[in-house]
Amino acid sequence: ERDKSTLFTAEIRAEIDAHIAKYPPAWKQSAVMPALTVVQDANGGWLTTELMDDVAAYLDMPAVSVYEVASFYGMYDLEPQGRHKVCVCNSISCLLQGSEELIEHVEHKYGVRSGETTEDGRFTFKEVECLGACRHAPAVLLDKTYHENLSPESLDKLIDELE
Ligand code: FES
Repeated sequence: ERDKSTLFTAEIRAEIDAHIAKYPPAWKQSAVMPALTVVQDANGGWLTTELMDDVAAYLDMPAVSVYEVASFYGMYDLEPQGRHKVCVCNSISCLLQGSEELIEHVEHKYGVRSGETTEDGRFTFKEVECLGACRHAPAVLLDKTYHENLSPESLDKLIDELE
């Protein structure tokens, strides 16, 4: 077996074990998504190949299947990220309620397009698919917190508070 990366600590393995415990023993691969979230959070918000390999080995699954999950779902990032993530929904309900305005505002005011990080490293901006908060569109996911009914002004206030 290959050496585990230094980031794949006992603490992280314990967190993953807690997710594995929710499934029948033969189904531990079902924990792949929460496991990726655990390692991504521990690594400043993005996944290295090494960490994905660690998860694959830990869950006894082919590394390529883990890469597929990580590239398919928008909540995983495969490149270094800013200190925060600002994800603006660009699906239909939010578009109808002004998310395009939010997106253009962020692009102009902060000089970033979707997938880019501000020069000061404060945040990475992402346009994402429906966040499941359509009833109070437009919605933004800031790190792990949902914010709804946003205007450019209220979004700015949230961004201003980021360290
Ligand atoms: Fe934006 Fe669903 S369309 S949260």
